[in-house]
Amino acid sequence: MKPNIFVTRHIPEPALTKAQAACDVDLWEAETPPSYEALLERSRGKDGVLTMLTDRIDAAFMDAAGSSLKVISQMAVGYDNIDTAAAAERGIAVGNTPGVLTDATADLAFALLLAAARRIVEGARYIENGDWQTWHPTVLLGRDLAGATLGIVGFGRIGSAVARRALGFNLRILAYSPSLTEEAARAANVERADLDTLLRQSDFVSLHTPLNNQTRHLINRDRLALMKPTAILVNTARGGVVDQDTLYEALVNGVIGGAGLDVTTPEPLPADHPLLKLLNVTIVPHVGSATIGTRGRMAEMAVDNLIAGVTGKPLPNAVVAGRREA
Ligand code: DGY
Repeated sequence: MKPNIFVTRHIPEPALTKAQAACDVDLWEAETPPSYEALLERSRGKDGVLTMLTDRIDAAFMDAAGSSLKVISQMAVGYDNIDTAAAAERGIAVGNTPGVLTDATADLAFALLLAAARRIVEGARYIENGDWQTWHPTVLLGRDLAGATLGIVGFGRIGSAVARRALGFNLRILAYSPSLTEEAARAANVERADLDTLLRQSDFVSLHTPLNNQTRHLINRDRLALMKPTAILVNTARGGVVDQDTLYEALVNGVIGGAGLDVTTPEPLPADHPLLKLLNVTIVPHVGSATIGTRGRMAEMAVDNLIAGVTGKPLPNAVVAGRREA
């Protein structure tokens, strides 16, 4: 008998076919995610679940799924929606998809940085509104990248990939990460800085930390106040890393100059949210990893983790090692 799995959203091919060949797949077909109740209901008695960052995977979910559940395979590198401690206590393996989305996410961080620096969205609206009269020496002036300072908060795979791009634009790069050594910083051509120094000195700040108890609202009122009034904040990590209400105030009151956000709280942001009205903010709908190739690779990695988990093998990319028998 094939293992039973629940896949919480339609995933790209060929990963879906691979999952269907190895397992009996119960697939959530709707565009929108299952409600928490539906998630519980459809996962009951399953051997594995393939989850998205939109699914709340807590202890109650694991208990409702039951003792057959061996693996939670997340199709994302971030897993702040999963209670990993609860999974570890229950011997359930948890997998994620690191590495394959590094370049796509770094590209998007850079796209947001450029869009904010060069006022791309504002310029497009300017034309759409019929406001463009003629070329003008002082209209829609943005900020130079060359010679400016970029602060990278979180210097893991994605933060380092952003630094590599920034070097090509002749930016000076400051990096903050508790684990970054002087040697590693030198090898990456960046300068190590504590968070406050980085915020004070940077013209652009790009966030690349996971969301956890240490990083929730890392960028708060006090830290925003350290930034330059012209500084641009880019967030492609998780909305919760920023205290969004104080970010809004900072943007309106000129505490900082602008923002480029791929992630918000909540997601989706309601269409009438005040942040969406600001001309100095560019917001996109959590599309850091949204390229055809990247999403295909993420799906394959997630399916490989899932198949390993339901057949009692170690996951190729484990956040939590499982202990339940196949
Ligand atoms: C992740 O993998 O955590 C990303 O946010 C998904 O794009």
